[in-house]
Order: sequence, then structure tokens, then C-alpha cells
Amino acid sequence: MPTLDQAITSLQQQMNISGEKRRYISAAFQREMGKGLVGEKSSLKMLPSYFTNPSGQEKGIFLSLDLGGTNGRVYLLELLGAGDFKIREALAFPLKGYDQKSAGFYDFTAPSATGEDMFDFIVGKLKEIIRQDIVYSLGLTFSYPCNQEGPDHAVLLSWTKEIKTAGVVGRNVGQILTAALRKQQVNNVTLQAIINDTVAVQLAGAYGQPDCRIGSIIGTGHNSCYLETTGNYLAKPAIVNIEAGNFDKLPFTMYDQELDMHSNQPGVQLMEKMVSGKYLGELVRLIVLRFSEEGLLFKSFFSQLSTPGIFSTQDISKVLGDNTKELKTINKLLIQQMGITTSAYEERLGVYKICHAVQKRAASLVAASYLGILDRIDCSYGSHVIAVDGSLYNKMPGYAKYLNEALGEDIKGNIGTVTVKAVQEGSALGAALAAARPKY
Ligand code: GLC
Repeated sequence: MPTLDQAITSLQQQMNISGEKRRYISAAFQREMGKGLVGEKSSLKMLPSYFTNPSGQEKGIFLSLDLGGTNGRVYLLELLGAGDFKIREALAFPLKGYDQKSAGFYDFTAPSATGEDMFDFIVGKLKEIIRQDIVYSLGLTFSYPCNQEGPDHAVLLSWTKEIKTAGVVGRNVGQILTAALRKQQVNNVTLQAIINDTVAVQLAGAYGQPDCRIGSIIGTGHNSCYLETTGNYLAKPAIVNIEAGNFDKLPFTMYDQELDMHSNQPGVQLMEKMVSGKYLGELVRLIVLRFSEEGLLFKSFFSQLSTPGIFSTQDISKVLGDNTKELKTINKLLIQQMGITTSAYEERLGVYKICHAVQKRAASLVAASYLGILDRIDCSYGSHVIAVDGSLYNKMPGYAKYLNEALGEDIKGNIGTVTVKAVQEGSALGAALAAARPKY
């Protein structure tokens, strides 16, 4: 039986993505992009949007609706031109939770709810921030794979991120939203655009920076998009939603396989399951559980560790942010969250190292995919901005640093500069920009 130190070293080796592995992964990513574009079998869907980069001249007041995961948000947003904007009103609401009025729990992400129920609820929220005497243009950021058949016409291909709302797959979400608006007599709001959240981030990034040709989300889910300008695949240049989270040419460990097996949809979104917030906490739990089973960590707390979801991705952030000498934050988390009432310092350090290995691998894999996209749009790596939004990139200690380090290593020695730009409120700003722009 290995010691804890040996087991950790072996895990670090399995999780290590060297520069060479990254180049291999990025080449595979690029190949899958090419296949997806011409309609060949590929793990990358490559879904064209109806939008290109903004001019920077867009101005005015718009409504944005952001439907990303378990939260929805509505905004009244003013575009001021050249990258500048002002949020005038914002309202966030969970799609599952407790409703005080009816004193009951609701869950619009479960199969017991329909798309109509969900959009009725959302329109109710929208009504709280609009006036009846003003006419509004609305942009919807809808963060799931859709076949775009027009700027305001997006057919949901499948739910991701474990959402299960009934009766939406195969339908135009724009039509469901518009029907909900009219049903509630909201006749002064017109849906102008539906975009993926990656497209929203790219529009937001490019509003003040025309070199922005890649947009990406690293939050609950993971995905990227880019500006495709070659005429061979599309009638006109357009931003293409890659649906990068479904990429599957990756070095999986047994923990990844186990996580996938117990997920809602095994076999899909395999990259997302290795890099994003919906899954990283669970991945850490499975590793710690295995270590516990082998008597290497928290031996007498095996049953607590067996509960799925007991360790979240936010917990990884807490662990990685623990700068105390005795790792007191980790201790508190183990006690309060997991009922692990006693732990040795070495065990807490073990948890830290596991979180670190999982995070570093995630950042490195995302960097490899960016390299694949860069190779496709400009293999000499001129000046490019990659706009990134999402809680992991913006908030998890170390994620942005490791991603930038890996990317820097990969493009070292090339001319030009590649900058990763953190974007805040990308979904809201992007939806407003899409609603404002002359259509494709
Ligand atoms: C999932 C969705 C994708 C979205 C991403 C980030 O991967 O399939 O459309 O962009 O999450 O929210």
C-alpha cells in the first residue's frame, strides 16, 4: 500500500498536463473544429451565430436576460459606446428555491417543470424592472447548445449542466419566451437576439477592443467561441459557438470516468466535466473518497465522504485560499461541511494538494483548447484578445494564473501578443449589444 505522499505524487503525475501533452490536445481540438465546421462527425458542434464583432458605436438602452444555469438575471442596460456601459437596473433570481409568497419550494430546472413554466416565471421577474410606457428591445443570453436559425430563433439541441426542464429540447426558445411575454400582456418588449454566453462575452470583449476574436466561459460550465472569417464554411464571417465542453480527445483518469458514469448524461460534455464549476468539487470528493477507502485520508469518515455533492467547487476555492499555517480554513470546512471532526495536518495538506492538482489540470486543458483555436484563426499568433468570464476564472484562487502561465509557455517565442481579458457582466452586455446591432 502506498503512503499518502506517494499516492499524492502519483495523482499529481496523472493530472499533469505537460507542454507536449497540451500541444497534442490542442492539435486534436483544432482537428475536431475543422470536422465540426464541415459537418463531419466531431465532438465539437461548431454552431454559427448570427453575429459578428460590434463596431463600438452601439448606443442606447436595452433589456438583457441571462439564463445560464441555476440563476436567471434581468437587466436594463445602457450602451454608451466604445466599450462603455451602465447597468441601470438588475435583478437576479434563482431558478430553484423557496418562494415566500406561496410558501413553497419551486424548481424550474427539474423535469417536473416545463419550458412554459420557466419562461412564465422569468417574464414575471422582467416585469419588475420595466415600465409600460416605454418600448424595449430585448437580448437573451441562453447558455446551452442551440441551432441558430435566425438572430432571434434558437432551437435547443440538448440541455447541459444537469438541467432537465421538460419540453424545451427541439424547440425555439425565442418562441417560448415571446409567447410568455404576450401571455402576460407584455406587448412593449420585442425579443431581438438570442446568443450563447460565450458569444455574449466575445461581443462584450470586442465592444472596446476589436482584436477580441475569442470568447470563453469558465464558470458552472465551460465553452468557447471565436470569429470565423474564412468564406469556405459560412456565407459571411460569424462568431461560432464551439460547444468546447463536449470535446473528448483527452487523457481521462479513473476519477473522470467515475464522475461521468454517475452524471445525468454519461459520455457527453467530457471536457466540461474536467474543467468547470459544476463538476470539479465532485471530482475532488471522488478522489478523497478513494484515498479514504485506501486508508490514506480520513479513514473513519468514509461514509460522510460517500455523499455525492458534499464537497462543492466553492469549497475548492476555500481550500486553495487557505493561507493559515495550520490550514485552519480547511479544518473548519471539513468539520462544518463534511462532519470530519478530526483531521491531521498532513491530511488537510493532502486535500489542498488534491484540489491544486485538479485545478491546475483544468486550467491547463482550457489553455490547450485556446491554443487550438488560435492555431485555427492565426497560426502566427498576431495580436489577439481572448475575453473570459465566469466564476472560476474570475474568482478561484490560482485558476487564471495557471491558465495564463500555460498559454504563455505554449506561445512563447511567437510574434504578436495574446492577452486574456477578464470580462465582468459579459452576458448582460453581450445580450444588449446583440439586441442593438444591425442584423447579420
Ligand atoms: C455549457 C453549455 C454551453 C455554455 C457553457 C457555459 O457547456 O452547453 O452552451 O456556453 O455551458 O455556460
